[in-house]
Amino acid sequence: MTAQLIDGVALSRQLRAELTQRTRTLTALGQQPGLAVLLVGDDPASQVYVRNKVKACAEAGIHSLLERHPASLSEAELLARINALNADPRIHGILVQLPLPPQIEAQRVIEAISPAKDVDGFHIASAGALLVGQPGFWPCTPYGCLKMLEHIGFDLRGKHAVVIGRSNIVGKPMALLLLQRDATVTVCHSRTPNLKAHTLQADVIVAAVGKAGLLTRDMVKPGAVVLDVGMNRDAAGKLCGDVDFAGVQEVAGYLTPVPGGVGPMTITMLLANTVQAAERAAD
Ligand code: GUN
Repeated sequence: MTAQLIDGVALSRQLRAELTQRTRTLTALGQQPGLAVLLVGDDPASQVYVRNKVKACAEAGIHSLLERHPASLSEAELLARINALNADPRIHGILVQLPLPPQIEAQRVIEAISPAKDVDGFHIASAGALLVGQPGFWPCTPYGCLKMLEHIGFDLRGKHAVVIGRSNIVGKPMALLLLQRDATVTVCHSRTPNLKAHTLQADVIVAAVGKAGLLTRDMVKPGAVVLDVGMNRDAAGKLCGDVDFAGVQEVAGYLTPVPGGVGPMTITMLLANTVQAAERAAD
C-alpha cells in the first residue's frame, strides 16, 4: 500500500479562500478582522513563523499589527502592551510568539490576553472551555489536524487514536478534540514504555514530539492515518517531521508530508480563529 498524502497547502488554499470571503463581509461592515503579533527577541525560527503569519493575514485581507520588541523587554512592559491591545477595538486577536526570554513568564503573559482575543487558544479559559466542550478558541495545530481528518472524511467515532506528545500546545488539546469526536484516545509521551505496542493499535496517529524519525513503518498498522506535527532538521539540515516518511508511506492509508502538511494548516486555523473573533465582536 502507498499512503495517500494529505496536502496541507491545497486544503489551506481552499479554507483561506472561504475565510477571505468572510473577511470581506466584515470589512464591508467596517469590522475588518485584526491580529496583533508580538515578537520578543530575535529567535530565528520565531522570526520566520511570525513573518509567515503576517503574510498570511495580508493575503486573507486581515489587518495585522506586528510588534517587535527587544529581548530585554520586561514582563511589566509586555503586560502593558497586552492590556492596550485588549482595549483596542481594531484588534480581535492577540498572539504572543513563544518562546519568550527567561525574565518573562509565558503563562502569566498568556493569562493577560483577553479570552475573547486568545486566537492561539492557550489561555486557561480556552483550555477549560475545550475540556468541558464549551465554545472557545482551539489551539491552531490540533484544530488544523482535525480539519485534515474532516477533509478526508474520516469518521472518528469509535476509532482508536494515539497521540504522541503531551504538550499544552499540541498533544493535550489534540487528545481532547479527538475525544470530543468520540474516538478512544491514548496519549503517549517520553516516559511511555513500548510505544510501538500502542501505535500498532491505532487507526489514527498524531506524532507531536519533535524528534526526527520517531515513527517508523513497523509501528504503524496498515491503512492507519498518520498526521505528522514534527518540525525538525535532519542531518543534512533539511526540514523533516517526526515520521520516517519513506517507510511509513508504504503502510499508512493517509499521511501528511513535512513540509506542506500540518504546518500551513496551523496558520490557516490562526486566520480562522481571528475571523471568528471578529465575527463574535461584530455580533
Ligand atoms: N511558538 C511555536 N508555536 C507557536 C504557536 O503556535 N503560537 C505561538 N504563539 N508561539 C508558538
